[in-house]
Amino acid sequence: MDVLSLLCFLIGFSSNSCTPHHAGEKWEVEEISRYAEVAQKIIDLAVYGDARNRSYEKLARFTDTVGHRLSGSKNLEQAIEYMYKALKQDGLDNVHLEPVKIPHWVRGKESALMVKPRHHPLAILGLGSSVGTPREGIEAEVLVVESFEELKQRASEARGKIVVYNQPFVSYGETAKYRSSGASEAAKVGALASLIRSVTPFSINSPHTGWQHYEEGVRQIPTACITVEDAQLLARMVNRGEKIVIHLTMSAQSLPDADSFNTVAEITGSKYPEQVVLISGHLDSWDVGQGAMDDGGGVAISWEALSLLKDLGLRPKRTVRAVLWSAEEQGGVGAQQYYNRHKANISNFDLVMESDLGTFRPLGMQFSGKAEARRIMGQVMKLLKPINATELEEPAEGTDINMWMDAGVPGASLLNDNSKYFWFHHTHGDTISVQDPEEMNLCSAVWAVVSYVIADLDEMLPR
Ligand SMILES: *[C@@H]1O[C@H](CO)[C@@H](O)[C@H](O)[C@H]1NC(C)=O
Ligand SMILES: *[C@@H]1O[C@H](CO)[C@@H](O)[C@H](O)[C@H]1NC(C)=O
Ligand SMILES: *[C@@H]1O[C@H](CO)[C@@H](O)[C@H](O)[C@H]1NC(C)=O
Ligand SMILES: [Zn+2]
Repeated sequence: MDVLSLLCFLIGFSSNSCTPHHAGEKWEVEEISRYAEVAQKIIDLAVYGDARNRSYEKLARFTDTVGHRLSGSKNLEQAIEYMYKALKQDGLDNVHLEPVKIPHWVRGKESALMVKPRHHPLAILGLGSSVGTPREGIEAEVLVVESFEELKQRASEARGKIVVYNQPFVSYGETAKYRSSGASEAAKVGALASLIRSVTPFSINSPHTGWQHYEEGVRQIPTACITVEDAQLLARMVNRGEKIVIHLTMSAQSLPDADSFNTVAEITGSKYPEQVVLISGHLDSWDVGQGAMDDGGGVAISWEALSLLKDLGLRPKRTVRAVLWSAEEQGGVGAQQYYNRHKANISNFDLVMESDLGTFRPLGMQFSGKAEARRIMGQVMKLLKPINATELEEPAEGTDINMWMDAGVPGASLLNDNSKYFWFHHTHGDTISVQDPEEMNLCSAVWAVVSYVIADLDEMLPR
């Protein structure tokens, strides 16, 4: 024992000075560096060997066959059936479905037309959970605002109008509030409908849909997203003093909750089968494009990680379990029900992982957990040096794993070069054409190496 370790021992291991980022206890460095060879085997198979491009091919076949997969839709049912069969055919362990109830919103027909001062059709996508308009539509003058503050200041002008939000894009996390609560805020000041500038840093005139929430006790008005270009057009015109009238028609409606499933497959652990490293992505998507990026990529690498371990005959001490969530887009609905069912066994959940922010070139992982656990992850990340994916950032993100992390389970998400993710997010442009086979090979390798090594260590991650 060196002096620092002795000091740490005497003052207790939890001291921060004893857990410098990435430094590693001696046993950790030794135990984890023993996995270098197996990590290289996984990498070789995924990136250079027989499994090269396989996660991409799986995803392309899946999305080309099933298409997009909205919560409650026939397509989502088909997707679950497709995946269940494919995972079984792949010879994975314990393939099964776990029933959940999910929202069933249908878009129906929708259109928006500027009728004054000139005729101009707007590209729109109704927002998830929006009510429809009356059959004949809503025709009203628009009020354009750039923020909720401006809406409050101009509240007296909003009554009987269609509120258009032309908020600048700051970040997804910051700006998405206009999509999620724009309708209720507009309704509070008497608006008839709201149109929201799509939440994206880049646009080629494509609307970006997404879920929205009606505030309890506030009148529910129809709401849709419009393109960045159209939002800016409307703003410029009203700033020149022009009066704009829009005719909005939407036949969206919410039906009773539908039956669905989370889809599960494993490599069952050899020594502690009840202990779990969970890897995941969500199988549902929006009803536009193919949902290839959001979140077909996360699904494909979670499936592929298990296939890689199986092909190499690798069975870790603990179970590596892939869960393909249902109804993430409606707010992690399937994942919440999974949590409720399994939380009694929370002490057996070693690490929960989700990839839902792109499967572009991987840089490493995002992680949430105690300093001791982070140090161990830091050592594991060194095994990914051959593919330059060794970064470890804080915190982890994932709608479907947040509940576990909030309850103290270490969590991880894929850190990747996703600077273009929100260009395609929730649009007709989210197709397999956005994905790159070689980048997905690397993501699959990261996913398999991290889940395997954590599942095979002598001890679970400290929490
Ligand atoms: C994998 O995909 C890359 C990029 O599309 C392509 O150049 C390469 O030929 C593919 N390799 C295999 C084995 O399919
Ligand atoms: C919890 O763990 C026990 C023991 O491994 C197992 O028998 C049981 O099925 C688990 N419960 C759930 C809901 O997974
Ligand atoms: C990792 O980076 C090195 C040095 O820049 C480069 O030569 C190598 O091709 C990279 N490997 C991968 C898989 O990207
Ligand atoms: Zn997603």
